[in-house]
Amino acid sequence: MTVLLTGADGYIGWPTTLRLADQLDERIVGVDNLARREWVEESGSVSATPIAKAEERFADIDGVSFVDGDLTDRDFVLQLLEMYEPDTVVHAAAQPSAPYSAINGERALYTQQNNISMTLNLLHGLHEAGLHESHFIETTTTGVYGAPEFPIPEGGAEMENAGERDEVPFPAMGGSWYHQTKSFDAANMRLAESEFDLNISDVRTAIVYGSKTAETSSVSQPTRFDFDYYFGTVVNRFCAQAVAGYPITVYGKGEQRKPMVSLEDTVESLVNLVERGHDGGGIDVYNQVTRPVAIVELAETIAAVGEEFDLDADVEHFENPREEKEEHKMEMENERFLDLVGGQQQSLEEGVRDVLETLVEHEGRITAHEDRFLPGVLTD
Ligand SMILES: NC(=O)c1ccc[n+]([C@@H]2O[C@H](COP(=O)([O-])OP(=O)(O)OC[C@H]3O[C@@H](n4cnc5c(N)ncnc54)[C@H](O)[C@@H]3O)[C@@H](O)[C@H]2O)c1
Repeated sequence: MTVLLTGADGYIGWPTTLRLADQLDERIVGVDNLARREWVEESGSVSATPIAKAEERFADIDGVSFVDGDLTDRDFVLQLLEMYEPDTVVHAAAQPSAPYSAINGERALYTQQNNISMTLNLLHGLHEAGLHESHFIETTTTGVYGAPEFPIPEGGAEMENAGERDEVPFPAMGGSWYHQTKSFDAANMRLAESEFDLNISDVRTAIVYGSKTAETSSVSQPTRFDFDYYFGTVVNRFCAQAVAGYPITVYGKGEQRKPMVSLEDTVESLVNLVERGHDGGGIDVYNQVTRPVAIVELAETIAAVGEEFDLDADVEHFENPREEKEEHKMEMENERFLDLVGGQQQSLEEGVRDVLETLVEHEGRITAHEDRFLPGVLTD
């Protein structure tokens, strides 16, 4: 049995590789073109946790092979699928930053070409290689739902027109060029399921926070942890700001609620989904979210937990550079995800404590790049 994991060198991909290798008796093949390392370098920043070269990182993990390659290359993808014949593909490779995709037209095009063509290549590749029984799992994003004024379903939406009702795919309401790539992927997965009869799970990942899992600590190989404006997601960036003694920047009043999930729960649910498999037919959608959190609540939680580490974090409000509703409630159904991850989820406080514990050890790397908390370097 073989699991092919794309984006294996990434923030989520690396700890997922380690848990798959630890918990499953299957061959794990990790694929990545190491582009994330280049994007962060290009933005003038670094991972707060020093990470080894890919070949060194993967060399020590039993049962794992690593392939350095670009999944936008159709021939490469087909070769990979024909060679390894994976029973499961976990597709976690992407250019995942909304602000990066918003810099200019060139980066929007790069993001859309990169993300959409990878998924298309993998779906067609599974069909062309005759791997119709394989389970294709993609981490898309809860961002595909936008911010509607009703509770967000775990998957499709009910629509009523001229007195008739039907269940339809949720509209593509992503708020960035990046988020729209995942709406395209969701639409292409739906088409591939009906055209090729593939087994597909669309895992809509919320904003992930965290710096470690049991496995990253035990192999002394941390996952990357970015804190810059382009690649640091909100919880992780705020924690880094607290460690650097830099004010925690809240956009506007901070009352907008954002869906969040810890790295631990993200990895655990993906590995459980690989183990559980797909019961055949249709697309299973999971809202990989523990709960929506208001940005101001988040900043205050970080400031409070920060006191345990003698951090004196100030919360400051800045004018919101993003087009978004200031007081959005954000309610999201997640029963299927909760069933997948099991009863116990990591609380926000525990996740923040883990992150701060990791970051205080690397304070120097953060303070040396604290000007990267704000946009600026990548303007064209
Ligand atoms: N981190 C989050 O908060 C979050 C939230 C929602 C969704 N997601 C999704 O989860 C997945 C993993 O995200 P992440 O945070 O680990 O990002 P990441 O950038 O750390 O990992 C993605 C990896 O994909 C690789 N990659 C990109 N393009 C590639 C290509 N053409 N060929 C081969 N490899 C390529 C990158 O080098 C990187 O290592 C992505 O699909 C992302 O959209 C992440």
